[in-house]
Amino acid sequence: MRLTLRLVILLVAVTAAVGLLFAVFEARSDRRALFHEVRARAESLGPYLQDHVEALLAPGRSTDLQNLLSLVETRAGMFGIAVYDDQGNPLTGTPGLFQVLNRTPSVVLRSIGSNAGSSEFLKLGRNSLFLYALPLHSGPSTVGAVCLFYDSSYIDATAARDWRNALYVLLIEGLLIALITFLLIRWRFTQPLARMAQWLREMPKGAGLAASPFPRDDFFQPLAKEVEHIAKTLSAARASAQEEAHLRASAQALWTAERLRIHVRSKLRGSPLFVISNREPYSHVRDGKSLQVVVPPSGLVTALEPVLLACDGTWIAQGSGDADRETVDERDRLRVPPRDPRYTLRRVWLSAEEEDGYYFGFANEGLWPLCHIAHTRPIFRTTDWESYKSVNQKFAQAALEEMKGAESPVVLVQDYHFALLPLLIKSERPDARVAIFWHIPWPNPQAFGICPWQRELLEGLLGADLVGFHIQSHCNRFVESVDSALESRIDWDHFAVSRGGHRTLVRRYPISVAFTGAPGKPSPAAPFDRDAFLKSLGIQALFLGVGVDRVDYTKGIPERFRAIERFLDKYPLYHRQFTFVQIAAPSRTRIPRYQELMTEVQAEADRINHRFAAPDWTPILLFGSQYSHEEIDVYYKAADLCMVTSLDDGMNLVAKEFVAARDDEQGVLILSRFTGAARELRDALIVNPYDTDQLAEAVRMALEMIPEERQARMQRLRRLVREHNIYRWAANLVSDLAEMRPESGWPTPLPETLGKTESTEKTDR
Ligand code: G6P
Repeated sequence: MRLTLRLVILLVAVTAAVGLLFAVFEARSDRRALFHEVRARAESLGPYLQDHVEALLAPGRSTDLQNLLSLVETRAGMFGIAVYDDQGNPLTGTPGLFQVLNRTPSVVLRSIGSNAGSSEFLKLGRNSLFLYALPLHSGPSTVGAVCLFYDSSYIDATAARDWRNALYVLLIEGLLIALITFLLIRWRFTQPLARMAQWLREMPKGAGLAASPFPRDDFFQPLAKEVEHIAKTLSAARASAQEEAHLRASAQALWTAERLRIHVRSKLRGSPLFVISNREPYSHVRDGKSLQVVVPPSGLVTALEPVLLACDGTWIAQGSGDADRETVDERDRLRVPPRDPRYTLRRVWLSAEEEDGYYFGFANEGLWPLCHIAHTRPIFRTTDWESYKSVNQKFAQAALEEMKGAESPVVLVQDYHFALLPLLIKSERPDARVAIFWHIPWPNPQAFGICPWQRELLEGLLGADLVGFHIQSHCNRFVESVDSALESRIDWDHFAVSRGGHRTLVRRYPISVAFTGAPGKPSPAAPFDRDAFLKSLGIQALFLGVGVDRVDYTKGIPERFRAIERFLDKYPLYHRQFTFVQIAAPSRTRIPRYQELMTEVQAEADRINHRFAAPDWTPILLFGSQYSHEEIDVYYKAADLCMVTSLDDGMNLVAKEFVAARDDEQGVLILSRFTGAARELRDALIVNPYDTDQLAEAVRMALEMIPEERQARMQRLRRLVREHNIYRWAANLVSDLAEMRPESGWPTPLPETLGKTESTEKTDR
């Protein structure tokens, strides 16, 4: 209030000062104008009167002179006229003039003396007069003067009136300014700030964080943005803390495939379950005359199969094996697992062109590099996008066919291959409960915004009731992307987005591995003979490091090799003592960037091996083929350290697989801080893979770590992975989705961009 008062006083004072200056200036110029006017009147009448008075000065014309003076005085509205002799003695004048005039005005004498017109102001009693005198001549000599008297009191009166008016104006102005300033301050500042203070007071209670009450204008915008950002961060932190508490509370009992099965059955209460993914859980390949069943080494199959087994669900995936078509029925279905069929696999067929555009093109040359900050530019081709859309529609069509007649189905869509699927399904089946789990990172809104079809992708994803990510920061960035690209209402308290009447929850579900082994007990399998295993690989070194990756530019394989080179540079003691085995499974090899990377990885390994070449020792062994889980497990068990150096990674299951494999509670995990796993596995040596020296140092630390510390770290890591295993991931995801209320109708029409096209009807049989 004091500030408002000070501001009002200051404004009024400044305005009054400026007003007064103007009033002074105006009064002066008014006075000057009136003066000029009276003087002009006198100067125009004077010479006329001078001539006539000179003519009437002759003896005997005094009556005429008197009449003339009276006539002129009346006509010109003057105070009086007087005529003087050359000594300044009054000769005659208009009636009454000499009664108020007790002496000859000096202007008369000045005029006679100078023989020229002269003027002055004279105060006569209460009157202000303007006098103008002109000399009178008779031939060449000056015989007197005629003096014109004007009443100039009105000039003072006008000036006084001007001042009065100016003061009135100033007074009104001051009052108005004070009032307007007061109202403006209350409306623009005091009230918004009071509302904001109230909002901030409510914030810790978790209420009303949807949007700050600041006015959305230029003035408050930057402040509003900052405050909202802080609020969002707090809200996210609270949500994450609640989630943590929830996770801690439910970590009482270990999750197993059996527990998951029971849990899912009770949660779904008979609702049919559908899983949709690009990779299928079983593929059939021809081996000569016989058919072979191949199970992809994928964590997803481990996680979702118990869920499907529990409720006889349907898994819809791309048929990719060369004998897949031979093993399905007329509706492209087969029962799996092959040895004990308990759920349905529905295969979807894609043409080579569709696979090129949808899988290699849009999903893996567009979305994959878009979502991973690994310095490979995404490529967006319209033809790929069209293909991506039509394949999503094709999968939607297959899913809708499978769901026909099913009541309130529960649908789990997997990954970035199917961003459009949730909306396509929900708009046809609003009663379905649909979740999509995004297995890769979500970039910040600016990075995501470079995608020409970002809106369509977000709209597609928001068709889901639940969108899942591995870690909270991916959830945050996703919601921020929605916030920046689409009209929507965001509930930061519950991490939910409402758009067109539909609400989507965004949650984190850190994926994991199928680790249930009892703590501290080695697995019952045959004892592992490390020496024999190393010998079988031709490795004579004492220490072994291992890396297991698809050959992908997000995995930081060249960075890892360079760190090993640096380590060997710095610590020659380890020459011939340390070997690093890199299992590099070829991946997406039709994409040029992946081909280049394969060449680069091989060249880096060759270069480093060549540099340190010694008999019986190869520093880096590069094994470039697909290995089964069991085969990889042996490498994990034999290794002194495992390096996970991803430049960006949603979770990275290799890190957790390594931990799960180490039932001897030994081995050190070196883990990139840019993986989702680094949020959980704090007992790993957390590194920045771009920092070659730090990474090299981590290798040394891992090899020189005292056994007690190594064991303590591994014990803590194993406890964490065991408690947060993949069954728990699936249980949480399914529970959250199953608990959602099915909707009765899709509230908004399908965006045009995702409307059906003919291709939904086509199949590629
Ligand atoms: C990532 C993706 C998965 C994908 C896997 C292997 O982990 O999130 O969806 O299946 O990579 O890639 P691929 O292209 O061979 O399926």
